[in-house]
Amino acid sequence: MAKRRVLLLGASGYLGAQILQELRHDQANEIVGTCYSSSVHADLARIDVKDDRSFAALINRLQPDVVVWSLRGVDSVDALELIEQGMETLLKSVPEHSKIMYLSTDGVFGQKTGPFTEEEETGLLDERNPLAGYCLAKIKGEELVRGRSENHLILRYGPIYGKNGADVWDKRVSSLASELEGREVVRTGNLFKSFVHVEDLARAIAELVPSAYTGTLHLGPARKESYYSFCRKMAARLGLNPDLVKEDVLSEERARELGIPLDTSLDASRARALLKTAFRSL
Ligand SMILES: NC(=O)c1ccc[n+]([C@@H]2O[C@H](COP(=O)([O-])OP(=O)(O)OC[C@H]3O[C@@H](n4cnc5c(N)ncnc54)[C@H](OP(=O)(O)O)[C@@H]3O)[C@@H](O)[C@H]2O)c1
Repeated sequence: MAKRRVLLLGASGYLGAQILQELRHDQANEIVGTCYSSSVHADLARIDVKDDRSFAALINRLQPDVVVWSLRGVDSVDALELIEQGMETLLKSVPEHSKIMYLSTDGVFGQKTGPFTEEEETGLLDERNPLAGYCLAKIKGEELVRGRSENHLILRYGPIYGKNGADVWDKRVSSLASELEGREVVRTGNLFKSFVHVEDLARAIAELVPSAYTGTLHLGPARKESYYSFCRKMAARLGLNPDLVKEDVLSEERARELGIPLDTSLDASRARALLKTAFRSL
C-alpha cells in the first residue's frame, strides 16, 4: 500500500521534535521533517520557508499528502513574514488533495474572556501586549489556510509544557526550576490558561494526521490553571519546594493597561470526545 507522505515543517522545534517521534510510530507515514537554523539535524531537510524558490521546489519534489505547520518566528516581524511569504508559497505550491494542518494558538481571541469554543470569533490583542504581533500573524495564517480549501485542520492550544523526546524542557518550566534554587518566585493567581503537556499534544496531532476530521479544533485538558497554580504543581513534580511559589494578583485595571486578557483558556471538549489521546491535567 502506498504510504502517506507527511511534510512536518519545524521538526527541529520544541513541539515539532515530539510530533516527529509520534509520527514515526505509524508505519503508514513516510515523513520528511524540516529544520532551519538549528544545527545537528542530519535526518531533517534544511529549509527557509521565506525562500520561495527553494521552498516551492521542496514541495514540488515531495508532493505531500499532509503538511503540518509547526513554525514559529523569532519575533513579531519574522512571525508575519513566515505567514506572508512562507504560507503563501506553501498554499500556491501544494497539491490540491493535500491536507494542511496549521498549528495555531489560544492567543487568537484578543481581549475576550475564555473558555473559548471553536465557534468563538477571533480578535486582535491590544498592541501594548508584546504578543500582539505574533497573534496577528497567527490569525492571518488561519485565514489563509481556511480560504484555501475545506481540507485543513486549524489546531489551537495553550502553553505547552514538559520534557520532549529530545530531552528539551519548555522555557517556562526550565526558568522556574532555575529561579527556584532556594529563592521565592512570584506568579499571578488570576491569569488562566489551558496548559497542555507536550507528549499529549504531539500524540493528538499525530492521531489527527490520518483522520478525516477537518475544520478547527481546540486541544487540551478539561482543567485550566493559573500561572500560580501551574508553577506550584510543577515545582512539586520537580521535587522543588512549592511553598517558595508566591501568589500575586493582576487588577483588572492594570491588565487592561497592559493589554493582557486574564483568561484565555480553551474549551477542548470536542477534541476530547473525538480522540483516543487523553490530555492529562496537572
Ligand atoms: N510553545 C508554546 O507554548 C506554544 C503555544 C501555542 C502555540 N504554539 C505554536 O506551536 C508551534 C510550535 O511551537 P514551538 O514552541 O515548538 O516553536 P519552536 O520551538 O520555536 O520551533 C519553531 C520551528 O520553526 C522553525 N523555523 C523558524 N523560522 C523558520 C524559517 N524561516 N523557515 C523554516 N523553518 C523555520 C525552527 O527551525 P530551527 O529551530 O531549526 O531554526 C523550528 O523548527 C508554533 O506554530 C507555535 O506558534 C506554541
